[in-house]
Amino acid sequence: MMKVRMIEQRDNGVCLFELKNDEIKVITSNLGCHVLSVFTKDREGNFGDVVLGFENVEDCWHGDGSYMGAIAGRVANRIGDAKFELNGKTYELAANNGKNSLHGGIKGFNQKIFKYKLLEDGIRFIYLSPDMEEGYPGNLYLKVVYRLCDNTLKMEYEAVSDQDTLINITNHSYFNLSAGKDKIYHHQLKVKADEIACVDENCLANGTFLKIENTPFDFKEFHEIGERINDDHEQLKLAGGYDHSFMVKDEEDQLILYDKETGRKLTMTTTLPCIQVYTGNFLSGGCNGKGGKPYENRDGVALEAQFLPNSIHIEKEPKVILRKGEEYEAVTTYRFEVE
Ligand code: GLA
Repeated sequence: MMKVRMIEQRDNGVCLFELKNDEIKVITSNLGCHVLSVFTKDREGNFGDVVLGFENVEDCWHGDGSYMGAIAGRVANRIGDAKFELNGKTYELAANNGKNSLHGGIKGFNQKIFKYKLLEDGIRFIYLSPDMEEGYPGNLYLKVVYRLCDNTLKMEYEAVSDQDTLINITNHSYFNLSAGKDKIYHHQLKVKADEIACVDENCLANGTFLKIENTPFDFKEFHEIGERINDDHEQLKLAGGYDHSFMVKDEEDQLILYDKETGRKLTMTTTLPCIQVYTGNFLSGGCNGKGGKPYENRDGVALEAQFLPNSIHIEKEPKVILRKGEEYEAVTTYRFEVE
């Protein structure tokens, strides 16, 4: 039985919602469309929370750099030198990650209050990002929908702008299928990708690509995340672990994360061309997580479906460009099973 309800409404406009069926329970907020909890069953049928999340979602306003569970945008990931050119005009962004722009700027979509509408099988969030917000041109109308369908959490993104602009929306949930019992080193990962986008010393995609065969990035078959994470590989050293976009195939079930202790298995399918796998290399020292517990490095792995990071500086025909009046649409699903 599917149930969608508001569970809290605060004076500051922040609300919390619960989406629940027999397989999954999600707690989400209209603040940054944060996914605060996702409860799923383990092999014994016990529910556990498989994502990292804020104790108080408002903590995202205090400059926490984890983006736990949030929607990142207008442009997720990094834009080199915090500027870009579009139609012959240069747009300056805030450099909020060294000299680069990260996840939409100082006050990205993760910090905005969205309008909301409860649906039969989920919730729709709506945000109107005004022209030149965080330096991006065009009034952008963004819709984010979270739905539950049996054992699947579905995220749908739609946007349209009244001027040419850039867009790259992702959900920045960190998963831990042991429900916090363990770090993610023993999680097994499989990704349908032959290449990753290489990064520089600031984790900025630099326009080169690595064929992953016979490297610690080869997850064509299952490998534990911790198996090769400390290998002497330049790309791992630069990012302090995995923090790379896998160029996924245009197929279903592009990424599988599996925890053999609990039997939980997460399968991701996206219409987007990349999945950034970020092993929480800088989680320590951020905001407190649920239960007031501070998170540490490698407590979760973020799986972020998106366009190629730094696309505007790398791609000949950058997929991140959204032309006036055109519709941006993307769908990412997360299917939870036990095995
Ligand atoms: C993304 C980036 C990481 C890090 C996190 C937020 O995943 O790729 O380098 O900035 O966001 O902490």
